Amino acid sequence: MPAPSRHLRVLSGIQPSGSLHLGNYFGSIKPNLEQQGKAGESIFFVADLHALTSVQDPAALRRSRQDIILDYLACGFDPEKAILFFQSDVPEHTELSWILSTVAPMGLLERAVSYKEKVQKGIAASVGLFTYPVLMAADILLYDATHVPVGRDQKQHLEIARDLAIKFNTAFGKDTLVVPEPVIRAEVAVVPGTDGQKMSKSYGNTIPLFGDEKTVSKAIMGIVTDSKGVAEPKDPDTCTVFQLHKLFLSAAEAKTLAAQYRAGGLGYGEAKKMLLGAYLEHFAAQRAKRADLARSPGLVEEVTRGGAERARAIAAKTMERVRKAVGLQ
Ligand code: TRP
Repeated sequence: MPAPSRHLRVLSGIQPSGSLHLGNYFGSIKPNLEQQGKAGESIFFVADLHALTSVQDPAALRRSRQDIILDYLACGFDPEKAILFFQSDVPEHTELSWILSTVAPMGLLERAVSYKEKVQKGIAASVGLFTYPVLMAADILLYDATHVPVGRDQKQHLEIARDLAIKFNTAFGKDTLVVPEPVIRAEVAVVPGTDGQKMSKSYGNTIPLFGDEKTVSKAIMGIVTDSKGVAEPKDPDTCTVFQLHKLFLSAAEAKTLAAQYRAGGLGYGEAKKMLLGAYLEHFAAQRAKRADLARSPGLVEEVTRGGAERARAIAAKTMERVRKAVGLQ
């Protein structure tokens, strides 16, 4: 049986659940882009099967799937350098998920906090929602991914993927699946939302990455601040407007702006307008490209079909090892 590849292979998945926002960009897209084309291989997919656990609106899902690919391409994802595809185009994900589910202890999944949190938030407690981490483990293990960069909220899911790989290998042969390393993005900027909490779609505090200028402006002008007047000195470290603005600035520029906050004379309205200006300048090229790409019919289909073919070539090899290991071949 051929040993799985051990070279650097970075894998990242994102659920298509609405428009991308600044938190997605600085927390995941930007670091992923920086990785693209460097040593090793980058595999990137849209977890549309996972999305079914919470989205039951076919039109919305269809739109989100398209949008997310266009968003990524506009941000600079290069299908020549990275593999980009839809999870549901590669049936091996569900196949491996099933096989892994037969070694996954109930207790391990029962301890998963994200399931409990989602149910508490009102998402229906389906079997699919419960076994979400098994499908995610399959996503990762199918590609012999060595490194999986995720935010802290996904750390437990990654541990489950590692546990399942180890369990599977113990039962069926130690070299069948590669045990992935989590790369927890601690260094990544914390991106606060308009209310100062972590920016997240589920908190309704996002600033969109694309979308029309009016919507972006409305979100930025709506950032919650304290009620200090224009003349009063302000604390940049506790100000959400400043924390967001900093993401667009060099260290020297951030220092200058912080001094302006502390000196007084800069009102929040003005500060927000400056932030909007920085945002529009920073994303001007991507926003123009996004509008352009949206006018090419068939582009998403073309990119993701090519991506799925490349992904399947890798996935098929893993499945052959797995099938042989368990006795299905
Ligand atoms: N659960 C991840 C999230 O909500 C998305 C995801 C699905 C994923 N499969 C993955 C992330 C595999 C990394 C690797 O963010």
